[in-house]
Amino acid sequence: MPDTLTITDNRTGKQYEVSIQDGAIRATALRQIKVQSDEFGLLTYDPAFLNTASCRSQITYIDGDQGILRYRGYPIEQLAEHSDYLETAYLILFGELPSVPQLRAWEHETMQHTMLHENIKKFMDGFLYDAHPMGIFLSTVGALSTFYPDAKHIFSEESRRRQVTRLVAKVPSIAAYAFRHSIGRPFVYPDNDLSFTGNFLNMLFKMTELKYEPNPVLERALDVLFILHADHEQNCSTSAMRGIGSSHVDPYSALAGAAAALYGPLHGGANEAVLRMLEEIGSTANIPAFIKRVKDGQGRLMGFGHRVYKSYDPRAKIIKRIADLVFNVTGRNPLLDIALELERIALQDDYFVSRRLYPNVDFYSGLIYQAIGLPVDMFPVLFAIPRTAGWIAQWEEMLLDSEQKIARPRQIYTGAAVRDYVAREKRA
Ligand code: CMC
Repeated sequence: MPDTLTITDNRTGKQYEVSIQDGAIRATALRQIKVQSDEFGLLTYDPAFLNTASCRSQITYIDGDQGILRYRGYPIEQLAEHSDYLETAYLILFGELPSVPQLRAWEHETMQHTMLHENIKKFMDGFLYDAHPMGIFLSTVGALSTFYPDAKHIFSEESRRRQVTRLVAKVPSIAAYAFRHSIGRPFVYPDNDLSFTGNFLNMLFKMTELKYEPNPVLERALDVLFILHADHEQNCSTSAMRGIGSSHVDPYSALAGAAAALYGPLHGGANEAVLRMLEEIGSTANIPAFIKRVKDGQGRLMGFGHRVYKSYDPRAKIIKRIADLVFNVTGRNPLLDIALELERIALQDDYFVSRRLYPNVDFYSGLIYQAIGLPVDMFPVLFAIPRTAGWIAQWEEMLLDSEQKIARPRQIYTGAAVRDYVAREKRA
């Protein structure tokens, strides 16, 4: 017998059977529940989508209670240990780990698309010297739609594949240009002999040397951070990507919107906010006073808490481990002591324990970025580079899902009832 939910409407005494599939009922099944036949029918009310699944997805699995994260079934710990970012991006985008020839072809294809059109440089030069790199990043990604008008053919598989490669390949170049612009240094062209992440470090840090040689420890650490950030199912920016994409706009425009959602301090901007918070706290002696302010509702402990994880974020555990490898090369980030002590105190405090608030991915990532030599305002951009793979995979999944339509939530209207227009001279 199929699983069903029996609902009794006390207003009418009628009973309804609603089928349960995959642990969910269809919200539209409630529309049949009405008092008068000309009514709209019962709605679900779910601000911020706390309990609403908006899609079926085969990309990322999270168990928030147990702290599990898997891409296409593969545990994040195994990918962080054995894979690299480009291979993980392939897995997320195309569903399977590539064979060796497939991987080589994908690496070659991606590295062929790292160059940006020369006009992008002129476009970027227009930003003020102190423009936030994330603002530059999201505007430039949006501008790419004008460079690739073929991207609007979203139902052509061939066109989609071209944009996928371009996007994965070009976001590090845009990010590096945004960084170089902000520090007033000339843009560095990609070096396709290097790895994806090695080349990114080259575009960020190359000075007058003929060939930039990335430090292998920092290159691997950044690559692991990219793996950890590549997708995270239906978070705020991914939902933005799907929602904007559902209007059938091109992927560059949709991705600019997703990047804008990521920019906020409650989402990808949190890594930047964590560093500013640690700097503001300044010393371990000031932690108790800071925790007290948070508990009194004056600000949040940034890098703590998550809508889905109600235990330790598995990504934060991995980052904590690679931080040590990075600090062996760069020297210890003095803010680490404050972060460790904050975590220790918070995890013993009933306020955080009872709300199940644990460190999330952003708590330690910024310390590594800073040790590598990147300024805090670059942190959200570093999140956006790998998340691009997740955004486009989710966008494509949405486009090919026959159940999806233009995203358009309902509302419960709480405004004034109908009233007559009042002439200006008669208004109080
Ligand atoms: N510091 C202090 N209190 C917190 C925090 C925090 N970081 N996070 C949640 N709370 C409290 C919150 O005040 C509320 O308390 P009460 O029930 O007394 O009102 C309770 O915990 C539940 O919080 P919520 O705001 O209802 O939870 P949410 O699921 O809507 O928010 C969150 C999730 C990530 C936005 C939130 O935990 C937060 O603001 N964290 C700090 C920002 C941050 O680190 N963001 C990065 C998220 S991970 C990376 C990503 O995916 O973007």
